[in-house]
Amino acid sequence: MSAAWIPVLGLGVCLLLLLEPVGSEGAVPIAITCSTRGLDIRKEKVDVLCPGGCPLEEFSVFGNIVYASVSSICGAAVHRGVISHSGGPVRVYSLPGRENYSSVDANGIQSQTLSRWSASFTVTKGKSGTQEATGLSVSTARPPTGKRQKKTPEKKTGNKDCKADIAFLIDGSFNIGQRRFNLQKNFVGKVALMLGIGTEGPHVGLVQASEHPKIEFYLKNFTSAKDVLFAIKEVGFRGGNSNTGKALKHTAQKFFTSDAGVRKGIPKVVVVFIDGWPSDDIEEAGIVAREFGVNVFIVSVAKPIPEELGMVQDVAFVDKAVCRSNGFFSYHMPSWFGTTKYVKPLVQKLCSHEQMMCSKTCYNSVNIAFLIDGSSSVGDSNFRLMLEFVSNIAKAFEISDIGAKIAAVQFTYDQRTEFSFTDYNTKENVLAVIRNIRYMSGGTATGDAISFTVRNVFGPMRDSPNKNFLVIVTDGQSYDDVRGPAAAAHDAAK
Ligand SMILES: *[C@@H]1O[C@H](CO)[C@@H](O)[C@H](O)[C@H]1NC(C)=O
Ligand SMILES: *[C@@H]1O[C@H](CO)[C@@H](O)[C@H](O)[C@H]1NC(C)=O
Repeated sequence: MSAAWIPVLGLGVCLLLLLEPVGSEGAVPIAITCSTRGLDIRKEKVDVLCPGGCPLEEFSVFGNIVYASVSSICGAAVHRGVISHSGGPVRVYSLPGRENYSSVDANGIQSQTLSRWSASFTVTKGKSGTQEATGLSVSTARPPTGKRQKKTPEKKTGNKDCKADIAFLIDGSFNIGQRRFNLQKNFVGKVALMLGIGTEGPHVGLVQASEHPKIEFYLKNFTSAKDVLFAIKEVGFRGGNSNTGKALKHTAQKFFTSDAGVRKGIPKVVVVFIDGWPSDDIEEAGIVAREFGVNVFIVSVAKPIPEELGMVQDVAFVDKAVCRSNGFFSYHMPSWFGTTKYVKPLVQKLCSHEQMMCSKTCYNSVNIAFLIDGSSSVGDSNFRLMLEFVSNIAKAFEISDIGAKIAAVQFTYDQRTEFSFTDYNTKENVLAVIRNIRYMSGGTATGDAISFTVRNVFGPMRDSPNKNFLVIVTDGQSYDDVRGPAAAAHDAAK
């Protein structure tokens, strides 16, 4: 079984991240969620921390002692008796796939059988870390305390708990002026220092927005706080319109490249400083940046005074530029004076990995259509597994009238809309209807199915503000052309 995500209109990268490993080599266990599966963490051996109080339905477990990698890690750990329902540390070892996985009722969890799966894992008691097992969102921010920092090796490796590749996009417009530009550099320097820059910690670079954006230095140029501070001091004021939107797009495309030092599997973050208001469209730039997998933070400083309001294109620019207007991705400072107290809260945000790995705040307002392969080659038991897979994805979303919407189409040579976006608006109902999808069995024409779904399922949603995604779940063999319809789907809503 494989799954392809096709962003019908933008923001594909964000969801793709979900399928990537979220590991870390550090000694501190990774806080995972109730439904994190073995396959979400593709590592030989890893220490994780399970939250307590997980609802049983988030524990889908296949096997006994050796679990198929589609199983929930925390579910398997409870099943195995390694932790109780109140959570705790677990060590996960990955193992090869097996021919079959058995079903056993243990410690209040009924595991399920599964035939042949490509990878497995097993669990043992983890060593207890210093982190508490909390709910979903765990901030891993642990900024070093400046003064007490000694000449330990830690200084060179940096703050391992805050792995991020960060671009500071500073305001170099005439609007901010030379004097406040220097105060801005000062503030950015303090943030950079507290982040704990180092080889294993955060890396930072700097871009200046002005008439034409200028990349002042890249991620790979400097890996010590001292060098970064020096480089920031050297940056000269450019002036002109702020053109922040243009600079943000430029940063997404030209700054965050692997040539320029972007590391794999580490959150990409751009911190955009705006004094007053942007002179161009920043909403679209924010979308582009997120398509490139870049998390956009807006730090706005000072508000336009009443006389200036007429010049502001869009007063709500901050909320429109960020992922979602829940306040996590935006930050306001009343002025450039007395900014020291704003340093630490900002650093904590920038180091909150759970939020950054495309938190719910990012992918809630989506329309997701699942295109489920019902061909004969899939087989009855794998078909059930596909439905399980689809349910597990659907579970991650806040499904409602104003939140995420889900639809499903089953296809062979034919297509059948199982339910459309407007049919169900609660998670409970969506999960129930997915469970009851009947297996069609027949040939496979994936290309036709994509065209069908774009026309009949996404078509009526043309005016929806949500971003559209098509998720194809298939055993991978199609007898028609997939590439053409996939490209057409991509273009459909542009
Ligand atoms: C599972 O596989 C083992 C061999 O790997 C075999 O002996 C056993 O009968 C299988 N069980 C089921 C239920 O297929
Ligand atoms: C950063 O690295 C690039 C490529 O290695 C180099 O061309 C550039 O001069 C460096 N910039 C600074 C400010 O050191």
